[in-house]
Amino acid sequence: SLKPIICPSLLSSDFAFLARDSNYMLECGADWLHIDVMDNHFVPNLTLGAPIVKSLRKHTKGYFDCHLMVTNPETMIEDFKNAGANSITFHIEATEPRGITQKVITQIKEAGMKVALCVKPKTPIEEVFPYVDQLDFVLIMTVEPGFGGQSFMKDMMPKVKTLRSKYPNLNIQVDGGLDPSTIDMAAEAGANVIVAGSALFKPNQDPKETIKLFKDSIN
Ligand code: DX5
Ligand code: ZN
Repeated sequence: SLKPIICPSLLSSDFAFLARDSNYMLECGADWLHIDVMDNHFVPNLTLGAPIVKSLRKHTKGYFDCHLMVTNPETMIEDFKNAGANSITFHIEATEPRGITQKVITQIKEAGMKVALCVKPKTPIEEVFPYVDQLDFVLIMTVEPGFGGQSFMKDMMPKVKTLRSKYPNLNIQVDGGLDPSTIDMAAEAGANVIVAGSALFKPNQDPKETIKLFKDSIN
């Protein structure tokens, strides 16, 4: 079976203490650090870009799972590589209408990073099928991208199931609204890579316990 990969979303951390919060999550058993890059164009929110990732790289050895919610991901690949990103996830909605999805996948791989495609809630999962064999994982959004703290969309589970049945060995990531009350739905559908922001960073939470609970649910 596929191993669980738990990815705290730094969107819910204290941006003034990114390094501290990142390393704390790794100590609590996190596998990857999920970095939400928003451009206030593809999504109605603005977060951080390659310069901050580059600063953070000096303070942690964590795996940087960079989720690019941006309109022109192809313009940022080199900067993210130079900043120390390990993987780049981009939205198929940002490239497929322009016919450059394949080009961007190739660009990320040639830069020496892992690559993933992401689908927003309204995008059919079938759209990623032509590319899956070249991807390191696929991200299925379980909220509309843009903000942390939203409710998990269980209507997305059929997409996870469809992808899982076609690709038994693929790492499938879900992002949005994952917490102890929704993890089982995601795990049963076949997701094994779990992003969680508020569930891990909320005060009075024990992230170590929650990460363990997530891992047990997937196993
Ligand atoms: C939303 C981001 C998510 C978000 C998840 O656009 O992609 O990574 O931070 O936050 P929670 O876990 O609070 O839904
Ligand atoms: Zn994300």
